Amino acid sequence: MDETESKQINDNSDMIENEKQQSKNVYVSCELIEHGFMVDNSNGVRVCSIINKEYGGRPVIFENYTGEIIDKEKFFAIKRNHREKMKSGIPPFECTDCPMLIEKEWDDNDYIDNLLFAHWVDCNSRCIYCGATTEEFVRENYKYYDFTPAIEEMIKNGSLIKSAKIDFAGGEPTVYPEFERLLSVFLREGFSNIYVNTSGIKYSQSITRALKNNQITLTISIDAGTKKMHKKVKCVSSFDKVWANIYKYSKAQQEANSKEKICLKYVFVPKVNVQKREIDIFFKNVIKANVDYVALSLDMLWWEKHKYDNNEKLIKMANYFIEQSKEKNLKLTIYPWARWLLESGIS
Ligand SMILES: C[S@@+](CC[C@H](N)C(=O)[O-])C[C@H]1O[C@@H](n2cnc3c(N)ncnc32)[C@H](O)[C@@H]1O
Ligand code: SF4
Ligand code: SF4
Repeated sequence: MDETESKQINDNSDMIENEKQQSKNVYVSCELIEHGFMVDNSNGVRVCSIINKEYGGRPVIFENYTGEIIDKEKFFAIKRNHREKMKSGIPPFECTDCPMLIEKEWDDNDYIDNLLFAHWVDCNSRCIYCGATTEEFVRENYKYYDFTPAIEEMIKNGSLIKSAKIDFAGGEPTVYPEFERLLSVFLREGFSNIYVNTSGIKYSQSITRALKNNQITLTISIDAGTKKMHKKVKCVSSFDKVWANIYKYSKAQQEANSKEKICLKYVFVPKVNVQKREIDIFFKNVIKANVDYVALSLDMLWWEKHKYDNNEKLIKMANYFIEQSKEKNLKLTIYPWARWLLESGIS
């Protein structure tokens, strides 16, 4: 076989492979472009909350949104437009080189299975690591709104499917009057893939109900062992309240006979809360409250500034945290910044 014939055979098999892929609807895209959206705290409806290097990330669906009922046709026309860009091989600029992009077979249907609420601003804590925009700025520049009616309509018209991942972030979800109502809608409609991130300061009846019905995973950042350190990180005196609420939530988990539905998180803030003593007391408290799930994270703003430093001591403490969780038989989640820290120590 000469060179020309061999090239022809290769070209043909590439063509056949391409045709096969196209008929199977295989292309590079991301779960959120295909079936997700989020609401942010600057009246934006966006595809995701991922900040993607210099490209920005977070492609826009609508701007100036203030809680109106979402027109199903208009909404999915914009979603389809994003999808078509992915199919054509030229993603929206914001998504260029995003690590969330993957090649796989996608379906062409119009539905949402991933929704993030981040349109709230107020918080009852003042964590020293929190990068959220200040309430004052947001209140001056944007309009707060109630999203529940629009969500009820999306459930009713089939835009939002029951297996969807529903993620409550913030500000602090539990301080909003809308929170109990909105969570109750999802509970009533039988959603069971719900995630709530909370400071844990304000007790929520709906969270307890969701735990009893096995419909929720709850994450509370404790970030300390002692009361003194908790105050230093949170800048409010809430240690006793938070633990009293954790005990109530833990009781609900036990009543449901379920596991790993309450996650207590430790965000490492270097030079503040990363001491063996604090970690030891944290684990003691976790066990005492009958909680079986912990998470390790790292202040992402610190990481951005210090990722090229010698972080040997910090890595040692992160490994100590991991050992403790294993020793105590706890489920462990490691958030990306802590994972990158650990990976930076592997030569
Ligand atoms: C912005 S908060 C909103 C929800 C709620 N107020 C809370 O604290 O869980 C969502 C999550 O982001 C985490 N977070 C905030 N700032 C962070 C930072 N600089 N580095 C790592 N995680 C951070 C918090 O620990 C929390 O689990
Ligand atoms: S590819 Fe990245 S930036 Fe684009 S929508 Fe997906 S997660 Fe967001
Ligand atoms: S509780 Fe959440 S939103 Fe409030 S300051 Fe802490 S991390 Fe930020």
